[in-house]
Amino acid sequence: MEKAGIDLFEAMSTLRAVRRLRTDPIPDDLLRKVLTAATWAPSGGNRQPWRFVVLRDPAKKKALRDLYLPHWTTYETDHRPALEKLPEPDRSRMGRNYHTARHLAEHLHEAPVIVVVCVHLPDLAITDAKLDRPSVVGGGSIYPAVQNLLLACRALGLGATLTTLLCMEEPKVRELLAIPPSFVTAAHVPIGYPEGRGHGPLSRKPVEKVAFLDRWDAPLA
Ligand SMILES: Cc1cc2nc3c(=O)[nH]c(=O)nc-3n(C[C@H](O)[C@H](O)[C@H](O)COP(=O)(O)O)c2cc1C
Repeated sequence: MEKAGIDLFEAMSTLRAVRRLRTDPIPDDLLRKVLTAATWAPSGGNRQPWRFVVLRDPAKKKALRDLYLPHWTTYETDHRPALEKLPEPDRSRMGRNYHTARHLAEHLHEAPVIVVVCVHLPDLAITDAKLDRPSVVGGGSIYPAVQNLLLACRALGLGATLTTLLCMEEPKVRELLAIPPSFVTAAHVPIGYPEGRGHGPLSRKPVEKVAFLDRWDAPLA
C-alpha cells in the first residue's frame, strides 16, 4: 500500500466532520484503502464483528436521506434552545455546525458513497452488560474501525462524517439493504471529496481538563 503522505498527529488534529461534500465519484482503489484501514482496528477478542455496506445506488442513498432528514430536524428543534443560551463564541461556532449538519441532512443522498457500518451482535464482548447503567463497552468493538476509516479518509483527501441518527431507523434500513437479523447498524458514514475548506483546526477541551493523575480531578502536572 502506498504511503498516505500525512503525519498521523496532523491527521488526528485536523480530522473534522466534513459535511459539505462534492458529488464527484470516489475511485474504487481509494474506497478499498479506506475500508481496509477500517479492518485494521482492534476489537474485543479480535472477533472483527464489522461489515460495511457501501452504498452507491442513488435510489438507496435517497431512501436513507428521506429517513435521516426528519431525525435531524427533530434533533435541531430539541437542541436549538440550549444552543441559543451558549456564550459567544461557542454559540456562533455551534450555530455554524448546525448549519452544515442541516446541509448534510438535506444533501445526504448526493454524497458519492454512504458506508453503512454494521456489527455482528453475537461477536461483541460486552463486559459491562450487567451493570445498572447503559452499556458502552460493545461500541468499543466497532467505533475504532469507524475512526480508522475516518482517518484514512483524512489521509487520502476525502471528507466524511460519523452519523448515528439513522440508527433509530434500523428496521427500515435493515429491510432496504437486506441486513441479516444478527447484525445491527452502528453508523452511516457519507464520504466524498470536501467542498470548500473541509478538514481543519478542531475545537476540543484541553487535556488538563480531561486527564488526571492518580485520582479523579488531581492535576496531571
Ligand atoms: C457517536 C457519534 C455520533 C454522531 N452522530 C452524528 C449525526 O448523526 N449527524 C451528524 O451530522 N454528525 C454526527 N456526529 C458528528 C459530531 O457531531 C462531530 O464529530 C462533532 O460535532 C465534532 O465535530 P468536528 O470533528 O468537526 O469538530 C457524530 C459523532 C459521533 C462521535
